[in-house]
Amino acid sequence: MAQSVSSIDRASRPMSERPLPDLVTEIPGPKARAHVTFDEEWTSPSLPRAYPIVPVRGRGMAIEDIDGNLFLDFAAGIAVNSTGHAHPRVIGAIKEQASELIHYSASDFYLPIYAETARELARIAPMRGKLRTYLGNSGTEVVEAAMKLARYATGRPYIVGFLGGFHGRTYGSLSLTASKAKYHAGFGPLLPGIHHAPFGKVEHLRWFDDVLFKHLVSADEVAAIVVEPIQGEGGYIVPDDGFLEGLRELCTRHGILLVADEIQSGAGRTGKMWAVEHWGVEPDILLVAKGIASGMPLGAMVARAELMESWGVGAHGSTYGGNPVACAAALATIELLEGGLVDNAAARGEQLLAGLRELARRSPDTILDVRGKGLMIGVEFADPKLAEEVQWACFVRGLLVLECGRQTVRLCPPLIASESDVETAVRIFGEAVEAVATHPSEIARQAAAAGALHDGEVAG
Ligand SMILES: Cc1ncc(COP(=O)(O)O)c(C=O)c1O
Repeated sequence: MAQSVSSIDRASRPMSERPLPDLVTEIPGPKARAHVTFDEEWTSPSLPRAYPIVPVRGRGMAIEDIDGNLFLDFAAGIAVNSTGHAHPRVIGAIKEQASELIHYSASDFYLPIYAETARELARIAPMRGKLRTYLGNSGTEVVEAAMKLARYATGRPYIVGFLGGFHGRTYGSLSLTASKAKYHAGFGPLLPGIHHAPFGKVEHLRWFDDVLFKHLVSADEVAAIVVEPIQGEGGYIVPDDGFLEGLRELCTRHGILLVADEIQSGAGRTGKMWAVEHWGVEPDILLVAKGIASGMPLGAMVARAELMESWGVGAHGSTYGGNPVACAAALATIELLEGGLVDNAAARGEQLLAGLRELARRSPDTILDVRGKGLMIGVEFADPKLAEEVQWACFVRGLLVLECGRQTVRLCPPLIASESDVETAVRIFGEAVEAVATHPSEIARQAAAAGALHDGEVAG
């Protein structure tokens, strides 16, 4: 399709003066299609890619693609850009730190901002008492760190994760991950000594006494239970009230460490700083990444001090972990989260949940469930194809969302989303659901032609 003069005009205006979304080419546009061809020649085919968005610039809630189209971002780079794109305070902190010192490994030397970040994370963590922090570069790295620390500190070999859980793609975290069998396929044998419990219902807690401790391993050989307080990649699944409290009680009773993987649910996303706070549960170890540094690569393991004091010099470390520029972004992000973004996530989350539930009420055969807390909301469809097609139909209408689980679409926007952003997202989402319900084969054909239908392979 040729660009009209007015769309060329619009695309040349500053992003802040354009409506959102603002599509000026067909979607995907010609440059995006050309780039996908180039990418597919050079990059690892293991990357799943949800649909052909080719972002080149971000401001606030807007993502501009390579063709000059503006998208309303309700995917946030897989629940990462917590403060929106290019927040001036975050950019200021990054620039200032980069001009002073970009790298000097905190593993072998003393970096002031590393210890400051550790103290800030301890201050905002959902645990009382003295805490210490280890910093890595990503979610999976701090999951690995927690598995090592739990074994080291307890002297026990076994670790328990949950069916439906996602913790990363390196060998330890991959072994804990149990959201989709294909993540394990071809990579076995995985780390030994890991078991998976059923997730989410209070009655599932019986599995520990009735199955695990009775038939498989004795409770005093279990080092840790690692849980996402709200499952992320596995389908945005909120546990029953009482489930996490029951796990806490079980861990305390058997001297097992409770590890909360808040890599996706933390940093204000659910309308509280940490999702465990919805249930008043204190973990022994807290895992943080994604939203904590607004997109700079940073992971954190915050643990009760006596656990971390059990391992000695050289037990763990990383060349880049706690990089000063990433730490500067985290300190600015924490200020912004505490300065209003966590509260905004709670308020806008209620608005989003209500809007989506109204859509579900109107489409009971298509939408099975709408669930979540704050701005971590999943819409479960009647089958996986519907979820894929709705994701695509949102994309071609200028709204970025992302599948998870088997047949769920997640909405996890930056925490700066305004009332009108949420209204726009609900409107477009509703139009997409309606289009899929009325013209399913046309949308499936478009998505398949762009190579975007691949059975829920999106991960993260
Ligand atoms: C709950 C959770 N844990 C761990 C990870 C792994 O994080 P990363 O991709 O930064 O390694 C993810 C990523 O999506 C996650 O959602």
